[in-house]
Amino acid sequence: MVNTSNFSYATDLASETFFSAHLKLYNGYAESFNKITQKRLTEEDLAEANAAAGRVRDAKRGESYALAGVLLHELYFENIGNSETYPGPAALRLIERDFGGYENFLGKFSAVCLAARGWAVWALNARAGRGEIFLLDAHDDGAVFGSLPLLAADMYEHAYFGDYGSDKAAYVNKFMTRIRWDAVEERVNSLAQ
Ligand SMILES: [Fe+2]
Repeated sequence: MVNTSNFSYATDLASETFFSAHLKLYNGYAESFNKITQKRLTEEDLAEANAAAGRVRDAKRGESYALAGVLLHELYFENIGNSETYPGPAALRLIERDFGGYENFLGKFSAVCLAARGWAVWALNARAGRGEIFLLDAHDDGAVFGSLPLLAADMYEHAYFGDYGSDKAAYVNKFMTRIRWDAVEERVNSLAQ
């Protein structure tokens, strides 16, 4: 059972109307996850499992899609704000180590946003021993196990089409100036503990 958090409208990245609609989507992912996981798969369902179709496949695909939808939206709502801020010392250290500087990071993150259909997520990966910006075409596509997320940008059309139309670049440019670096700093610091 997953519960949702209450996010209040505190960003000019989106208008209040579309922000509210976005929150409804977020809550919907949690409802879907709870519905899917509360439903028991029968012996018959398990016996019929195969990779083409069926209840096991539908349930498992839905489960990861809905749960990742909840988690990613929480990261996103927490890391967007109402003014331009700059990375704190802990985040900056990682940015310099893994991307060769703040400007390089901004350029690469923006490019991954433009290339993505679902999400751009800066995360530290334990196996790689460094940070990388992952491109997700759906909530549960493109993420790598062992990754700890630091910054998430929602690149689904529902995140920007209402306010920016097809001008995806305008949304990305605005996003880059609305990152709540204090939230990112807290994530980096919590990893160090
Ligand atoms: Fe979204």
